[in-house]
Amino acid sequence: MKKVLLISYSQTGQLTNLAENFLSPLRNHSDIFVEHCQLQPETAYGFPWRFLSFFNTFPETVHLKPAPIIPPKLQHEMYDVIIIAYTVWFLSPNQPITAFLQSEQAKLILKDTPVITLIGCRNMWLQAQEKMKGLLKQCEAKLIGNIVKIDQCNDWVSFITTPVWLLTGKKKIKGFQSAGIAESEIQDTQRFGLQLLKYFNDNYPLDRTIFQGMGAVKIDEKLMMSEKVGVRSFHIWGKLLLKCGKISPSFRKMMLCGYIVFLIAMILTVVPISSVIKRLFKPLLQKTLDEQKRYFAQPSGE
Ligand SMILES: Cc1cc2nc3c(=O)[nH]c(=O)nc-3n(C[C@H](O)[C@H](O)[C@H](O)COP(=O)(O)O)c2cc1C
Repeated sequence: MKKVLLISYSQTGQLTNLAENFLSPLRNHSDIFVEHCQLQPETAYGFPWRFLSFFNTFPETVHLKPAPIIPPKLQHEMYDVIIIAYTVWFLSPNQPITAFLQSEQAKLILKDTPVITLIGCRNMWLQAQEKMKGLLKQCEAKLIGNIVKIDQCNDWVSFITTPVWLLTGKKKIKGFQSAGIAESEIQDTQRFGLQLLKYFNDNYPLDRTIFQGMGAVKIDEKLMMSEKVGVRSFHIWGKLLLKCGKISPSFRKMMLCGYIVFLIAMILTVVPISSVIKRLFKPLLQKTLDEQKRYFAQPSGE
């Protein structure tokens, strides 16, 4: 009997849908046990988000200091493979997933276990996956594959549609493509579940070859530099806001408002500027960019 565990946390159900599509080829086989554990925060995050609460979660999220979750009750102590399905919050894994990965329970079940990460986010996941790799390393887990699905709208349109969705709950605004991941892409996740099933049926070892050549991830060259700048800025401002909060919650709120203005200005300037710089220096940078692309695409490869 092969045992598969999928851990996820989703607010709108989009990631749950992605996770269930991955699991569907594995279900209804008498020799495969499938468990989908959906994490629950001790205090629920509201959806749609209130404007300030949305931004106020960023310091703890980026510094991996998550709010507590209800410890999940798992049916087994060991699994053949564990899938960590997660969404990205501020270029980091979302808080409930981080809370789980920092728990003693995670350390016990993940030790020496093959892990597949399944990401559903707007478009920026490279730095979140770097943090994920660190969290998995602390649990001594073996990352064998990564699958990523991003929002269907292009970068600039989703810069409007995703926040509108998260802050109002409205997925569709007039004149724009719907926010979120395309239904066809969600269903495409079944290909990867099927591949895992093949590995089980053929008794292949679960290693880093599992999703190679399947287009499991796509690296957007344009976003590599923006994410690097973004993660540094989040780190510094996050630290500052945590310190302000120790002085007084209202001082933190005031500084946060200043930061929101700075952040929006940064997104509107850094992303286009870095893309212009990259275009200008592309011939010189190409080798480094290709190396970085290969690095971020691991272990699945593009
Ligand atoms: C607080 C917050 C921050 C987010 N930050 C990012 C981000 O940095 N990069 C990104 O691609 N998507 C980001 N998203 C979008 C999510 O990754 C995800 O696509 C969306 O929240 C839907 O996920 P759900 O399945 O939990 O409903 C963010 C969402 C939230 C709620």
